[in-house]
Amino acid sequence: MDTHATQDGTQRFAARFRATAGEGHFRTLDIAGGLTLSSLGMGTYLGQPDEKTDAAYTEAIVAAVEGGINVLDCAINYRMQRSERSIRAALDELRQKGFAREELVLCTKGGYLTPDGGAPADPNKYFYQEYIQRGIFSAKDIAAGCHCMTPRFLDDQLHRSLHNLGVQAIDVYYLHNPETQLAEIPRSEFLARIRAAFTFLESAAAKGKIQHYGLATWNGFRQEAQARDSLQLAELVQLAREISGEAHHFRFVQLPFNLAMTEALTLANQSVEGRTLTMAEAAEALGITLIGSAALLQGQVAHNLPPFVREAFGLETDAECALQFARSSPGITTALVGMSSAAHARKNARLAAVSAATVDQFTKLFERGSQG
Ligand SMILES: NC(=O)c1ccc[n+]([C@@H]2O[C@H](COP(=O)([O-])OP(=O)(O)OC[C@H]3O[C@@H](n4cnc5c(N)ncnc54)[C@H](OP(=O)(O)O)[C@@H]3O)[C@@H](O)[C@H]2O)c1
Repeated sequence: MDTHATQDGTQRFAARFRATAGEGHFRTLDIAGGLTLSSLGMGTYLGQPDEKTDAAYTEAIVAAVEGGINVLDCAINYRMQRSERSIRAALDELRQKGFAREELVLCTKGGYLTPDGGAPADPNKYFYQEYIQRGIFSAKDIAAGCHCMTPRFLDDQLHRSLHNLGVQAIDVYYLHNPETQLAEIPRSEFLARIRAAFTFLESAAAKGKIQHYGLATWNGFRQEAQARDSLQLAELVQLAREISGEAHHFRFVQLPFNLAMTEALTLANQSVEGRTLTMAEAAEALGITLIGSAALLQGQVAHNLPPFVREAFGLETDAECALQFARSSPGITTALVGMSSAAHARKNARLAAVSAATVDQFTKLFERGSQG
């Protein structure tokens, strides 16, 4: 039985769409076991923690995969663990439709404290009984009242995610917004915590519970280097190398990338061997795959875009243009778009048949955009 995404399996997924996929829709990585990822990925963050949304996500995930999307992104806290369970239900349906586990790149995250399925009557009591009493964390391990990345906690969360998703292994396991902790703790302590987390994640990879790991971030890589919660990729890759050498499994970074958040391409905030680089450049130099999140800025760039954006891409709707921008950006392997509606999943998956934008189209858009 297949337990995780494989080079062959993901290539087989791409081959299903050989006749229809636009150029550049599928991207094969040089690293991370040579997996092939679709240029759009399915996000599962937004929405109510209720049964109606569970069913809507399951239907949307099935529609997305049937439309040529093989990257599924989640986090244990999304809709209080219910999004992971919606993915499980979708995987069951997809299996019956002939899609194998090894064709799909399954990603989830740990770091935020979350209830289980719904808001508990007494949250303090819930977290005390479920975690503190069982020795999984203590109050000193928690930052910002909601974040934890100790090995003991991550081990607990990883096992809950495996159970929620109904799988034996996760392809990419992210530490979720680790920069949250920098608001409270000094950088030296932060790096010690990351080192402990990476050491745990390397051991989880050695046991086959995860294939790769990464950091899913919001602000960390999008600010000036001097900002208190900014992250330096080279420093973090160095930690992974110190733990496991060149064969380390820290291979993915997620950061927002959309028409209004272009820092990965435009802000030179990373220092790599004495050079000042953008995140896209630094990731390439350091063997990290970049995944863009919030491709529609939580729906805000799906409407009312200036006409020149549509002209640049020649596509029908604003949502299509915004997604075309995110999926075509040099350096971004997959652009994640949240879709709790199957209608959106079907619409967005139509882009799989459209070739990614050329560098020329891109440059024109940037030049026009900077004229205001
Ligand atoms: N730090 C992190 O780790 C982080 C942060 C943010 C996001 N992410 C990941 O990135 C994913 C994407 O980000 P996001 O979900 O926050 O926001 P998003 O993808 O920018 O936007 C999602 C919203 O756009 C709507 N939408 C989708 N397709 C549309 C279309 N064709 N026309 C109009 N509206 C459309 C969705 O509606 P429906 O739901 O009704 O379909 C949803 O309300 C997340 O789901 C998550 O997996 C990670």
